[in-house]
Amino acid sequence: MIRHLDDSSATRLLGEVIARAAVPGSVLTLHGDLGAGKTTLARGMLHGLGFLGAVKSPTYSLVEEYPLPQCFFYHFDFYRMRDPAEWDDSGLQDYFRANALCVIEWAEKAGDRLPPVDLALTLTLADQDENARTATIKALTPRGETWLAKIVQG
Ligand SMILES: Nc1ncnc2c1ncn2[C@@H]1O[C@H](COP(=O)(O)OP(=O)(O)O)[C@@H](O)[C@H]1O
Ligand SMILES: [Mg+2]
Repeated sequence: MIRHLDDSSATRLLGEVIARAAVPGSVLTLHGDLGAGKTTLARGMLHGLGFLGAVKSPTYSLVEEYPLPQCFFYHFDFYRMRDPAEWDDSGLQDYFRANALCVIEWAEKAGDRLPPVDLALTLTLADQDENARTATIKALTPRGETWLAKIVQG
């Protein structure tokens, strides 16, 4: 699925739709350069699930945890991971549970250690307009296919 996003509210809105279409246990990776809008989209997801507090970027902590009424929501950012081997002693594997929705920025830094990813979303700068982005979403598992079909329906 490819979607044009005019501005950051469009990105947040897409995040809301993605989150509302998710089932617990799902994993989404967010790709794109620094400033592409990955954290903005994750904020939209949390907002879509009814979380009204502040959403910090997990760049320094690797993970921010949100215990929501419907499931746990874990927002990861592996930007500062220097070596995929850091994953092995980190305990991060334990976050990927059936009652958790996991969203990951810079998943590529963890190499091939991540559990199966259901959806991969890439944000790219769209054109001359500095506020425009293009979102490309790919389903990577059967659960991701179902998730993406619901997102397309809005
Ligand atoms: N369409 C857009 N979607 C997301 N962010 C946008 C958009 N247009 C402008 N921005 C700005 O770009 C920045 C994106 O930052 P952030 O979401 O932290 O990016 P990342 O997590 O990918 O590094 C924010 O300052 C945001 O206001
Ligand atoms: Mg970010």
